[in-house]
Amino acid sequence: MKKFLNIKAAMIKKNLVILTGAGMSAESGISTFRDSGGLWDKYRIEDVATPEAFQANPKLVLDFYNARRKQLDDVEPNRGHLILAQLQKLFNVQIITQNVDNLHERAGSKSVLHLHGELTKVRSTRFPDLIYEIGTKGIYIGDVCEKGAQLRPHIVWFGEAVPAIDKAVEISSKADVFVVIGTSLNVYPAAGLIMYARPEVPKYIIDPSSIEIPSGMNFTVIQKKAVEGCKELEEWLKKNL
Ligand code: OAD
Repeated sequence: MKKFLNIKAAMIKKNLVILTGAGMSAESGISTFRDSGGLWDKYRIEDVATPEAFQANPKLVLDFYNARRKQLDDVEPNRGHLILAQLQKLFNVQIITQNVDNLHERAGSKSVLHLHGELTKVRSTRFPDLIYEIGTKGIYIGDVCEKGAQLRPHIVWFGEAVPAIDKAVEISSKADVFVVIGTSLNVYPAAGLIMYARPEVPKYIIDPSSIEIPSGMNFTVIQKKAVEGCKELEEWLKKNL
């Protein structure tokens, strides 16, 4: 009888959908992009994050992502990542992330959809279905797939399609609670996902800066960093849902 009740309880968990951006990992020591001193202050998008950049200077692009991949060895999930993973006990937590790091997974989150790719994977430049797990190792010119084509980072560059967006739209439209953490909402189509959360569901945004949200969207703003903001969110969820 007890077992049966547990199964039923598991079936009625609410969908907690969380869209994360670079600010989620900032307190782990990974730079954001658009804050002052962020990555796009040090590099130009056009030089390292477009297909044209890879054509023009593949070494620079590979080095840029090799350095970011290697950094994963030196960072740990922060308390915010851990809180989101713990919330899986109470909710069906689905994370949609723009981040290419693996900190949500390392914190224990089971459902993580990477919109902009993953640093720990590489793929063939000619056979995009040939995707390889490489952990935090570097890739270099001359490293090829099993069919002989150069490998590239498994990252969505500016100007490229975002294959996971349809799945992300579907997840967002089924949210019972929708939370946005640490993104400037400057990059589409990711930023447009907030429009798919149903009007009646509670919506939260956690960010130390004030983020522009289309009017009438009814977001509750927690103007804090991710760690403190996630603590506040957890308390609210436990009290109200
Ligand atoms: P941004 O750098 O544009 O925005 C980071 C957001 O995090 C800002 O709103 C900051 O206020 C906030 N932030 C800073 N510190 C924080 C903290 N400790 N806790 C919570 N929030 C904090 O990064 P994204 O919005 O993620 O794409 O950028 C989106 C995409 O643009 C990235 O995925 C990347 C980038 O170019 C590609 O490279 C394809």
